[in-house]
Amino acid sequence: MARAVPELQLAETDDPLHERLANALAALIADGRLAPGERLPSHRVLAQGAGVAIGTVTRAVDMLTRRGLVRGEVGRGTFVSELERKSWGVPVDLTLNVPPLMIEEALFLQASERAARRVLTLPAGGLHDLRGTEGQRAIVARWLSRTRLEAEADGLLLCVGAQQAIHLAFADLAGLSPSIACEAATFSGAIAAAVHLGLGWEVVDHDAEGMMPDDLDRAFKETGCRMVYTTPVCQNPLGFEVSEARRLALIKVCEAHNAFIVEDDVYGLYATAGPVTYKALAPDRTYYLTSLSKCLTPLVRLGVLVPPEDRLPPLLRALRADVFGAPPSAVELGCALIELGADAIAAEALRREAKARIDLARKVLRLADVPMPEGSPHLWLPMPAVAAEKLARRCSEHRVRLTPPDATSLGGDKAGGVRLCTLAPDHRDDLERALHIIARLMRDPEETVI
Ligand SMILES: Cc1ncc(COP(=O)(O)O)c(C=O)c1O
Repeated sequence: MARAVPELQLAETDDPLHERLANALAALIADGRLAPGERLPSHRVLAQGAGVAIGTVTRAVDMLTRRGLVRGEVGRGTFVSELERKSWGVPVDLTLNVPPLMIEEALFLQASERAARRVLTLPAGGLHDLRGTEGQRAIVARWLSRTRLEAEADGLLLCVGAQQAIHLAFADLAGLSPSIACEAATFSGAIAAAVHLGLGWEVVDHDAEGMMPDDLDRAFKETGCRMVYTTPVCQNPLGFEVSEARRLALIKVCEAHNAFIVEDDVYGLYATAGPVTYKALAPDRTYYLTSLSKCLTPLVRLGVLVPPEDRLPPLLRALRADVFGAPPSAVELGCALIELGADAIAAEALRREAKARIDLARKVLRLADVPMPEGSPHLWLPMPAVAAEKLARRCSEHRVRLTPPDATSLGGDKAGGVRLCTLAPDHRDDLERALHIIARLMRDPEETVI
C-alpha cells in the first residue's frame, strides 16, 4: 500500500532540485521511514509534498532507480528495493580533509580544563598583545622546533588556522606580485584567498616531485609574478612530496627573480624526508605556515605564520585590521594540547592510519603505484577532466562524495583527476565500502552499484 509521504526535507544546497529530492527520499529509505517493499507515493503526491514540479519527481525517481534504491513495476508503481539495507549505507564524504580525532576524549578534556583555567588569568581579556602572550608563542615555537622548523617565539604570528595565514601572506605579497605561481591544481582555500585579493595564477609544469625549475623560471620571466604557493608535503590535491634537491633548485630560481615562497606545511607530519622546509633553506624569502588542523584536529583552528623577519610589522598591522589576534581560548586550548603531548600522540596514530588506508585504497582500486610514499591523508586519481567529473557525479549518486577537478584546478588540462580524502571517514569500514563503489564505477561508469 502506498501511503502519504513522510515529511520531505530538501537540503539547502546548490545541487539541482531533483538531486536534493532524490537525496531526501534516499534518507527516508535509509532510516526505514520508507520500508523495503513499500510503494512510493504517487508522483503527484510527492510533488505536492516537496513543493516541486512533477517532472522534478520523475528525474529524482529515475536517479533513485539508477542507485538501486527503488524499482518501477509497469502498471503498479514504484517500490522501495528489498535489497540488503547495508549496501545503501550512509553517505561517505571523501571531500573534506579532516582527520579523525586520534586522542582519548579524557586527554582532550584535560587540555580543555587547563586551557579554561589559564584563559581566566589572561590580562585585559586577552587583548594585551595581538600576537598572543609570550608564553603561548613560546609553546608554539617549541612545537614547531620539535616537529618541523627551528622557530623563535618572537618571529611568529598566531592565526585562525592555516587559512588566515595563507590570506595574510598573499596579501603581504600582493603589492609585489600580481599573481601566484603554482602547480596545475592546488588547495581550494588558497584559490579562495587569491580570488579575494584579485591575484591571478601562473600554472607551472610539475612532475612527481613538484614544480619544474625551468618552467618556474619561464613563468617569472614572462610575467610579473614574484610569488610561489606550495604545499610541499602531500601536495593538495596531487599528493607528491618535494625533495630537498628540488627545493634548492626552485629557491635558486626565486633568488634570481627576487621572488618569495609561501610554504604551506600543514601536512608536514607526513614528510618522508624529515624536517626539510623552504623556510630553513631560505628564511628571508619564505612565509612558512602550518596549523594543528591536519596533525591533531581542526576543532582548535590554531594556525601559525613565520614570515621573513622584516615583514612582521606590516603583517601585524594587517592582522590588527582584520581581527585582534587568534581567539585566546582557542590558543590556550591548542597550547594545552601541545603541552600534554596530544599532537605527538595524534600525529603518530594518523601516520599509521593514513598508511593503512592508502594501502587499502591501493588494493581495492587496484592501483599498482600511488605517488604517496609513506601514507597521506588524501589520494589523487589522475584521469581526463571529463572522466573525473563524471566519476565524481556517479559516485555522488551512490552517496560517495569525491572532490572533482574543478574544485582544485587552476585551469589547463594538466590536473584532471579526483581527490579522495581517505582519512575523512571516522571508520575505515566506511572508507572500504566507498572504495568498492568507486572501483566499480571506475571500471564501468554506467553501472548501478548496489
Ligand atoms: C593545504 C591546506 N592548507 C591549509 C588548510 C587549512 O587549514 P586550517 O584548517 O588550519 O585553516 C587546508 C585544509 O584543508 C589544506 O588542505
